[in-house]
Amino acid sequence: MEQRWSIRLIRFAAVFGFIGTFLGSQMAGNLDYSMRPIHAHVLLVGWLSVFAWGIFYKVYRVKYKKLVAVHGILAMTGAFGLTFGMWMYNLNPFNLNETFVMLLFIIGGSLLLLAFLLFVLMTFFVEKED
Ligand code: HEM
Ligand code: HEM
Repeated sequence: MEQRWSIRLIRFAAVFGFIGTFLGSQMAGNLDYSMRPIHAHVLLVGWLSVFAWGIFYKVYRVKYKKLVAVHGILAMTGAFGLTFGMWMYNLNPFNLNETFVMLLFIIGGSLLLLAFLLFVLMTFFVEKED
């Protein structure tokens, strides 16, 4: 379970790394910094944090296997939800309803918060190594 989620998380992080650096180069090229917080979170959350979780599951065995899947899903939906929600809320490129974009942002951010909270527990659920 850990192995499968490790590579899944790392692949997800790799895609976010590319999207984030692409956004950064667009911002630099166009001298338009409106995407700055989205660029920052795509890279710090989607790339760095998710990558770190992926490596954690490569290194450690966890006692409760199902929680690995729950955390993996929360990590991915949270990283996507926060950054997508922030984009929709901050810039609203498709002119969506204001309450709707705010809800997207709140739900995405809450999923990510849960992923970080669950990860605290996961660090205590590792199998003992002698
Ligand atoms: C192709 C590579 C990258 C380019 C061209 C790029 C470009 C930029 C630009 C133009 C800004 C806005 C600066 C400003 O408002 O004055 C920015 C901000 C930022 N970038 Fe990047 N970036 C790149 C890669 C990265 C990477 C790899 C990370 C982290 C892993 C990162 C994290 C950040 C953060 C956290 C901010 C916000 C900084 C702040 O609030 O002061 N960037 N980047
Ligand atoms: C529940 C999750 C999170 C929410 C709701 C959230 C929300 C925000 C908001 C609203 C801002 C201000 C953006 C602006 O200036 O328009 C911000 C800035 C920032 N956050 Fe987060 N954040 C979250 C998680 C994180 C995490 C996990 C990291 C790092 C791993 C992070 C790193 C940053 C950085 C570096 C900035 C400054 C970026 C800039 O100036 O563009 N955030 N965040």
